[in-house]
Amino acid sequence: MMDESLRNLLQKMPKAELHIHIEGSLEPELIFALAKRNGVALRYASVDELRRAYAFTDLQSFLDIYYAGASVLLHEQDFYDMTLAYLQRAHADNVRHAEIFFDPQTHTERGVAFSTVIDGIHRALDDAKRHWGMSGALIMCFLRHLPEEDALATLEQAIPHRAKFIGVGLDSSERGHPPEKFARVFARCKELGLHLVAHAGEEGPPDYIRSALDVLHVERIDHGVRCLEDAALTRRLAEQRVPLTVCPLSNIKLRVFDRLADHNLLKLLEAGLLVTVNSDDPAYFGGYVNDNFLRMFEALPLGREQARLLARNSFVASFLDEAAKRKLLEEVDACFA
Ligand code: ADE
Ligand code: ZN
Repeated sequence: MMDESLRNLLQKMPKAELHIHIEGSLEPELIFALAKRNGVALRYASVDELRRAYAFTDLQSFLDIYYAGASVLLHEQDFYDMTLAYLQRAHADNVRHAEIFFDPQTHTERGVAFSTVIDGIHRALDDAKRHWGMSGALIMCFLRHLPEEDALATLEQAIPHRAKFIGVGLDSSERGHPPEKFARVFARCKELGLHLVAHAGEEGPPDYIRSALDVLHVERIDHGVRCLEDAALTRRLAEQRVPLTVCPLSNIKLRVFDRLADHNLLKLLEAGLLVTVNSDDPAYFGGYVNDNFLRMFEALPLGREQARLLARNSFVASFLDEAAKRKLLEEVDACFA
């Protein structure tokens, strides 16, 4: 059992969340409520039946259900309601800043306008700032199972909304879709001054991490846990202070590791990597960011020093400006003083 004071510290420490897919925060209850509101038919008869389907064997088995869940999102208010529900939950975990992924192609493919998606999500970020002083920023992800031409077309649709997002990412089915498939669209995004991140080394090999860095020129690696299979790559990530946004409960649910006790989070920290802890798709993987911290700290020999380091890393690895980072890092230090 974990020490009560460590548990309290993990819950109350200020933190940033840097790897959360907003469509992955859609709880079964909200899926059913939106299906009813929008007259969308679901393959599942009840919330319980849907929840029982969350028995994933790998990334693809999850993605199939995740895209089906997102099919209930049609109107600007739906995107707002989903995002505000996440932000409220994150606020309860003392998340002070969230960098949130969204997948426009999942919605534009179904005939939902790009503006409907981004305006609903963005309005919720504005309200979270006003209500709770919590900052938020959007990262638009390209679906890597689709052709690069589709990503380029999505970027064109996004340009009129340039002020509403800070960067781009790459998600969906990793195996067979290496980062270099998206070299042209990422080069264009770099010219536009966008921040660049990509999922790599979740299910895919360490080489995908290398090509995300060398071909796409990303600033952070999402997941990246397989880097430890390649010692030279691990040293490079440590030396260049490339952040990894690690998602422990996701890795267990998608069978990247069998049990939490087998997770390599501590090894990543011991290798000197700039690791952060995040929830990925909290509605599907059994917990929000504090659940990820608590379960990981119960399963591994992690203590107060690692808690402080992980809280600090979350702000260091963020895309906040230096003044905002400094202020939040002072709050972390005060919490641990
Ligand atoms: N989309 C949502 N969650 C994802 C994950 N863990 N990996 C890749 N794509 C995703
Ligand atoms: Zn992810």
